[in-house]
Amino acid sequence: MCGIVGIIGKPNVEKELLKGLKKLEYRGYDSAGMAFLDKDGGLRILKETGKIVNLEEVVLAQDIESTVGIGHTRWATHGAPNRDNAHPHFTDKLALVHNGIIENYKELRVELSAKGYPFRSETDTEVIAWLVTDYLNQGLKEFNAVEKAVARLKGAYALAIIFNRCPDLIIGARQGSPLAIGYGEDAMYLGSDALALSSYTDTLCYLEEGDLFFMKKRGAKIKDKHGRWVARKIKTLDLAQADSDKGDFDHYMLKEIFEQTQTIKKTVDYVFDLKKKTPKDLKDILGFPAEIDFRSLKKITLVACGTSYYACCVAKYWIEHLAPISIEIDVASEFRYRTPFMEEGGLAVFISQSGETADTLAALRYCKKYGQKILSIVNVPESTIDRESDVSLFTQAGPEIGVASTKAFTNQLVILLWLAVKIAFEKNVLKEEKQDKLIQTLKDLPGLIEEGLQDSKKLEVIASKITHAKTALYLGRGISYPIAMEGALKLKEISYIHAEAYAAGEMKHGPIALVDESVPVVCFAPFNQLFEKTASNIEEIIARKANVILISDKEGLDAMGDKIENRIEIPKTNIFSEPFLTVLPAQIFAYYVAVLKENNVDQPRNLAKSVTVE
Ligand code: M6R
Repeated sequence: MCGIVGIIGKPNVEKELLKGLKKLEYRGYDSAGMAFLDKDGGLRILKETGKIVNLEEVVLAQDIESTVGIGHTRWATHGAPNRDNAHPHFTDKLALVHNGIIENYKELRVELSAKGYPFRSETDTEVIAWLVTDYLNQGLKEFNAVEKAVARLKGAYALAIIFNRCPDLIIGARQGSPLAIGYGEDAMYLGSDALALSSYTDTLCYLEEGDLFFMKKRGAKIKDKHGRWVARKIKTLDLAQADSDKGDFDHYMLKEIFEQTQTIKKTVDYVFDLKKKTPKDLKDILGFPAEIDFRSLKKITLVACGTSYYACCVAKYWIEHLAPISIEIDVASEFRYRTPFMEEGGLAVFISQSGETADTLAALRYCKKYGQKILSIVNVPESTIDRESDVSLFTQAGPEIGVASTKAFTNQLVILLWLAVKIAFEKNVLKEEKQDKLIQTLKDLPGLIEEGLQDSKKLEVIASKITHAKTALYLGRGISYPIAMEGALKLKEISYIHAEAYAAGEMKHGPIALVDESVPVVCFAPFNQLFEKTASNIEEIIARKANVILISDKEGLDAMGDKIENRIEIPKTNIFSEPFLTVLPAQIFAYYVAVLKENNVDQPRNLAKSVTVE
């Protein structure tokens, strides 16, 4: 979490920093700040709590003439989101911004306080500022002081530091938190990700773990973790990919929900290579990747967090439905602290929109240590998870800005469906009629999604009936169970209504005690072989006077008749299309509840888009 930017050699640096910070606001929005060097060499710091607009107001009211500065947007870890804890942290010699967590900050703080350094904040970050200052006070040059300081840090950090006596210098480091250097004309840039740098340049290099660097306006030099000066590969960024605005939509989330028709088409084309082919049979479209021997695979492990984890849950149903293989799924933050048995040569799959989630990355490294082949499904090429994987597959969702993940999820599902099919195909167990059904489903998917997005206004009406609710239940059976979990997550993160998902059949084992007329119950029940069972569970809930919202196809809605007032019709589904079509109303429903409650839909409280701390 937290986003950092740095600029050297550019006039109106404060305005430029604001541009980059706005692109990084999705990483945290508890407070924002910047530091720059005045024309007379003095350090100036501006910070505000809350969103970047608050900082912007203060910055634009100042008379600033500077070409070097650093900026930060914060998601609070240590210390409340107030101005003292906001970055940059500073001393009489330097100002510093940090993304990550310093685990040994308490010992360092005791040591530095004993030397008389006056701490102002409750953060872990401030120890770095005073540690570097201490080495400067001992007579070390700026680069050596930073090198010595970072050698003492335990934990994760992306750092950028400016110094009051060095008008042409930014020093920084990367360990466990991402950082990239951007190359401009007579100016250099720094950013937590390519999105931030896209405001300035299309030419960049990603720093590697353990890198330490300094930059001046005409270039940068990087030292690797072994102390060698190195050149990192410079790449050109596809700025069209990096850029994103809301267009005519009120919120990014709504835009991203409606983008699913096109993005899913792109991911289907990408993964099944459909652009070049009109498949008749699956061997036409299941060409890659050569690096994984799916035929001999006995076990597959899928790990992720949040929404990406629910994509794993859906995949489990598909893979089990299609192929004889043992499959394990878990949330990353639990997986790595168990001792899961993994036979050498197994396949571990990691799913992440950002490609930077710290828990997922730690689980990936754990699996690597135990000899697993690593396949990742990420939305951000060149992210850390991509770069540490043996094979990466890329969802073609484009930048997802809304903190509540929507299009990333359905695009992950496309690749996971491909994975299930690929395994079954390679293991020679895919029956012909299933092949036909699959090919047809894939071809139909974008059209079905478009159809599924038609009824969104009706969802607004139903949403208006539950804005007062304190708690909601989400129920589903089979492959709709993970969609119930995803739907509940969407509702809680943006509407702040407590929402709990259950497998429909579990209700009678306890949770039904929660049900009364004040509890909305969202039921996912397409008309399939499980429908009758779910319908009985719904009857049990109706009998307890709950307000049922039923998401089903025409046959399902007809079967329930007028017992249910709040009905959302989705197109007819099969096991492959079901999760795509049931999740759409869940996304739109949560969106409208949040809008009607006048919540900040794109930046809900306490959350950040990219969770780079464990
Ligand atoms: O970037 P990732 O997919 O690794 O992120 C995982 C979760 O943090 C993320 O899905 C989170 O749960 C979203 N806010 C859900 O909407």
